[in-house]
Amino acid sequence: MRYALPFSSVRRESMEKVFFLLSEVVKPIIMEVGRTRFADGMQGDGYSTIHFADYVQRHGGMLLSVDADPGTEKLCRELFGVLELDGAPVVFVDVKPESFHVPEADLNLLYLDGPDCTEGMERQSAQWHLACMKFLEHKVVKGGLVLVDDCMNDLFPEGKGSLAIPYLVEREYEVLYKGYQWLLRKTKETQ
Ligand SMILES: C[S@@+](CC[C@H](N)C(=O)[O-])C[C@H]1O[C@@H](n2cnc3c(N)ncnc32)[C@H](O)[C@@H]1O
Repeated sequence: MRYALPFSSVRRESMEKVFFLLSEVVKPIIMEVGRTRFADGMQGDGYSTIHFADYVQRHGGMLLSVDADPGTEKLCRELFGVLELDGAPVVFVDVKPESFHVPEADLNLLYLDGPDCTEGMERQSAQWHLACMKFLEHKVVKGGLVLVDDCMNDLFPEGKGSLAIPYLVEREYEVLYKGYQWLLRKTKETQ
């Protein structure tokens, strides 16, 4: 597959796996929580908005891109212009956490990459990602994917996934990839 930008090294394997699995889905609905916020990839983020927008522009489907900071929408629109992604089927949802709403569409991929788990914020970030996962879990289709960023460990999930991933495993999600990112697949309809 050809990509608009190279993947960051820690995410390359997991992102390639995600796009391989997505290629089995006709017109996938992707939701990311946490949008690209820097034009400078050296900051350590993953350019997820660019990668997902590029994918749905090429293959169909839709990206719902959620972020509390409207400045990130402006930046992404500028980046889309530079990278010829203006026509990509992307819906920007600029919401504050308290007004976050459940999407109408069912999700084939949910990407969790919200508040940073920087020093001193680890617990808060992990709890936020768990709450977000619980809030959206019923919108993930059976067979759908959940990808969590900044888990940092291939033995057990740390960081953003330290609470959300055990929650999913308990709900019988299948772990497909463990590493800096963790990738899981929903195996059962939501009870
Ligand atoms: C790590 S960045 C996302 C990076 C992006 N996924 C990428 O790969 O380029 C985290 C984003 O989460 C957003 N964010 C932080 N707290 C949030 C909240 N409570 N609700 C929604 N978005 C939030 C920030 O504005 C920031 O843009």
